[in-house]
Amino acid sequence: MSPIKLFDDIYWVGAVDWNVRHFHGFAYSTHNGTTYNAYLIIDDKIALVDSVYGPFKDEMMEKIKKVVEPEKIDYIIANHVETDHSGAIAEVLKHASKAKVVGTARCQKGLFKHYFGDWDFQVVKTGDTINLGKRTLTFLEAPMLHWPDSMFTYIQSDALLLPNDAFGQHLATSKRFDDEVDEKILMKEAAKYYANILWPLSSLVLKKIEQVQSQDIKINMIAPSHGIIWRRNPTKIIESYLHWAKGEAEKRVLVVYDTMWNSTDKMARAIVEGISSMNIEAKIYRIPYSDRSDIIADLLEAKGILIGSSTINNDILPTVAPVLEELKGLKPLGKIAAAFGSYGWGGGAVKTIEETFNKAGMKIALPALTINYVPTEEEIQKCYDFGKEFAKSIIAS
Ligand code: FEO
Repeated sequence: MSPIKLFDDIYWVGAVDWNVRHFHGFAYSTHNGTTYNAYLIIDDKIALVDSVYGPFKDEMMEKIKKVVEPEKIDYIIANHVETDHSGAIAEVLKHASKAKVVGTARCQKGLFKHYFGDWDFQVVKTGDTINLGKRTLTFLEAPMLHWPDSMFTYIQSDALLLPNDAFGQHLATSKRFDDEVDEKILMKEAAKYYANILWPLSSLVLKKIEQVQSQDIKINMIAPSHGIIWRRNPTKIIESYLHWAKGEAEKRVLVVYDTMWNSTDKMARAIVEGISSMNIEAKIYRIPYSDRSDIIADLLEAKGILIGSSTINNDILPTVAPVLEELKGLKPLGKIAAAFGSYGWGGGAVKTIEETFNKAGMKIALPALTINYVPTEEEIQKCYDFGKEFAKSIIAS
C-alpha cells in the first residue's frame, strides 16, 4: 500500500495489521484486525506524527521513503508511549539521527523506560506549538485518554486533529476514510473500542470534549492512530463519544450466563421470555460461546444486564469470572443489573455477582433469584415473573 494523502503535504504512512485477532495481550478481541496510523507532514521542517507497532516498522519506512528521505525528518511527535505507536521510533531515529522526539513529560519518561533510549527529546505541554513553516503543530495534553502520557496534536490551518488512540477503531481495510467504508461496521468497531478501552474514562472524555468545544477549536478531520480517518463527518464520532460517555443507552437487556447442568440455562430462557413479554428486547449470551469483548460492546448501548451462574464450590463458575472482572474494571455506570442462578446446597454464585455489581457502580434492580437444583414449573414461572419485573425497571429508567 502506498502513502495516502490527507491534504497537500500530509500523508498517512501507517500499516494495516490484517491478521491481529487479540489486543492488549488477549484482553480484547479484534475480529477485523487493526491499523497503526502514522502521519508525515512535509514542510520547511518535516514531522512524523506517531509511528507503528515494531513488527511493521519496515512497512512504515517504505511509505516514508516514497515521500521523503527519512534522514530529513526533523520531529517525531509521540502522542502516546504505548508500543503500538512508538514501536518504530527507534528505527526512524536510525535514519534521522538528528530528529527530535516530542511529547509530554510523562511520555519522555515512559518512552525512555520502554526503549532505554537516550533520545533528543522536547517536552511539550498544552498550548505549546512547533512551527514547521507553512503549518504549525499545537499540542493538547490528554492525560488518561487513555494513558497518563497521552496527547493530541492539532493543525489549525487544516482544522486537523491527530488524537492518537481517541476516536479510533480496530478495523483493517484497504480504505482510509469514513466515506469509503460501511458506516455500520465502522460505528460498531468504534463503539466496541470505546466500550473496551475508554468506558471507565468517560468523565475525562466528557471534560476533554467540552474543553475542545469551549475553545471553539474547529475540526474538519480527525485522524486517529487506529482504523479509519473521519473526514466526511467528524462531528459524528464526537457526538457518539458524548453519547457513550454520558451513559445514554437503549431500553434493552443482555442476559449473560453459564450453566453446569442446564438449570441456570432454563432460568435464563424463562427470564428472557418474561422480559420480552413487556416488549423489551433481550439477548442471551452464554459466556463460553460468546466473545467477552463483544458482550461488553453490546452492553455499551443496552440499559440492563442480568448475569447468571450455577454455583460451584460456593461461588460462580470460573467461566463467568472474566466477565465480572471486566465489569469491575470498566465500571459501566448507569446500568441496571440483577443476578440469578441455580445451586445445589449452600449457594454463593449470586452473592459474588451482586458484589461485582456494587463494585462496578451498577444499580441492582431486584434481589437475586436462586433456584435449588432443577427448576419446577412453578419456579420457571418465577423466572418469567422475575424477567417481567426486571423489564419494568428498565421501562421506568
Ligand atoms: Fe493504540 Fe494506547 O495504544
